[in-house]
Amino acid sequence: MNIAVVGTGYVGLVTGVGLSEIGHNVICIDTDEKKVTRMKLGESPIYEPGLDELMTKNIKEGRLQFTTNHAEAFEAAHAIYIAVGTPENADGTANLTYINQVVEQIATYVKKDIVVVTKSTVPVGTNHSIKEKLNALLPTETKAEVVSNPEFLREGSAVYDIFNGDRIVIGADSKEAAALIREINEPFGIPIYETDICSAEMIKYASNAFLATKISFINEIANVCEKVGADVEQVAVGMGLDSRVGTQFLKAGIGYGGSCFPKDTKALKKIAENVDYDFGLLSAVIEFNNKQQRKLLDQAVADFGSLEGKSIGVLGLAFKPNTDDIREAASLTIIPELLRMGAHVKAYDPIAIENMKKVLPTEIQYTGSAVEAIEDTDLVLILTEWDEFKSLSLEIFVKKMKSSFIYDGRNCFSLEAVQEYDINYYSIGRKMLNKSNLATNKN
Ligand code: UDX
Repeated sequence: MNIAVVGTGYVGLVTGVGLSEIGHNVICIDTDEKKVTRMKLGESPIYEPGLDELMTKNIKEGRLQFTTNHAEAFEAAHAIYIAVGTPENADGTANLTYINQVVEQIATYVKKDIVVVTKSTVPVGTNHSIKEKLNALLPTETKAEVVSNPEFLREGSAVYDIFNGDRIVIGADSKEAAALIREINEPFGIPIYETDICSAEMIKYASNAFLATKISFINEIANVCEKVGADVEQVAVGMGLDSRVGTQFLKAGIGYGGSCFPKDTKALKKIAENVDYDFGLLSAVIEFNNKQQRKLLDQAVADFGSLEGKSIGVLGLAFKPNTDDIREAASLTIIPELLRMGAHVKAYDPIAIENMKKVLPTEIQYTGSAVEAIEDTDLVLILTEWDEFKSLSLEIFVKKMKSSFIYDGRNCFSLEAVQEYDINYYSIGRKMLNKSNLATNKN
């Protein structure tokens, strides 16, 4: 099958590469010439483990191409995938500017009947308006069908997810269009769920909102655990043993970030508002997550009184491990606040430093290693659970820090391990370990 994918961001590129790997002829289109030149050489513009290798392989085997030319890409396509961004407007709604541009490009360059597949996350009803617009713009003898095919890829494991997802959702009003997209997807060997267009659009928002709710729920439980002396890690295990609850997405921490959960929860709230429905539960999830991202900051201020003049080491800038993405990361809430309070911040992340430099180029002292970031600090905040941090010897903290106060927002260490050392340790939803008086520095 010949497939054109418009947009080579995270979703478009992984989708295009995945479709080529299962045997389709894929041509990915982007307007950015420099990016296209790089991708033709097999270089992924995003950090995603395993993606470069898979790109190179499929380019070499002749199934994957890149272009800036829409006419060329659309000419032989059986299906055109829309995978452009739908960023957040100031009011929380999804911005459809890029989607509308693609609709116009399709109308300009497509010369035959076409099936358009929407991968981008779009508000319920958008696919119907795409279809209407396209059919109004295309010549009368040409017909466009539209299929909603949302993605459920996780950053950092997208290459694994595209071949091992739990389901592929196909939302279509036309049996022929649904059959074509089913045929394209069958080689993935993943269960396919066919539904109508509006339900498919809603499945994407509902799934992300549900997962965000699950995270906020366990984080609220964690906060109560701290006050009543329970341990959230053990509570999560016990809850997860009930198959109705499930073990996943019960990891307590300093809230969710990234390019999807914050944006999609707000967009769903807006979708409900637009039909006069007050989605109170979702509003609470969003509001709570904003508070939870500040949790370490509030605890440190409660402990130290003031953070002015304190030297603070920050481990982890990315919104989660295995990605360089800092969008909506807790680091973006916490670090500017620390700076505002007059603290000196040293920060380290295995790969996200370059992205943070675009936001805070000079205000932070970036270090080349975790050990440098914790050296001579009064306190350390752990914001991302990189394996590199989890495998740090706790002795290093004792040896290198001025006073060993660790605020661990991702529960990277077991309490048993920490207890062996002279460390003051605050983590999420667990017992606080106090070894020394806050006023006493070791040196
Ligand atoms: C998410 C969805 O998982 C994916 O299906 C969708 O297509 C895009 O959004 P992603 O944002 O890449 O994927 O990462 P994910 O692994 O889901 O984590 C999102 C955030 O939730 C991260 O900040 C992570 O730290 C946090 N999280 C996740 C928790 O705090 N606890 C958990 O138990 C799980």
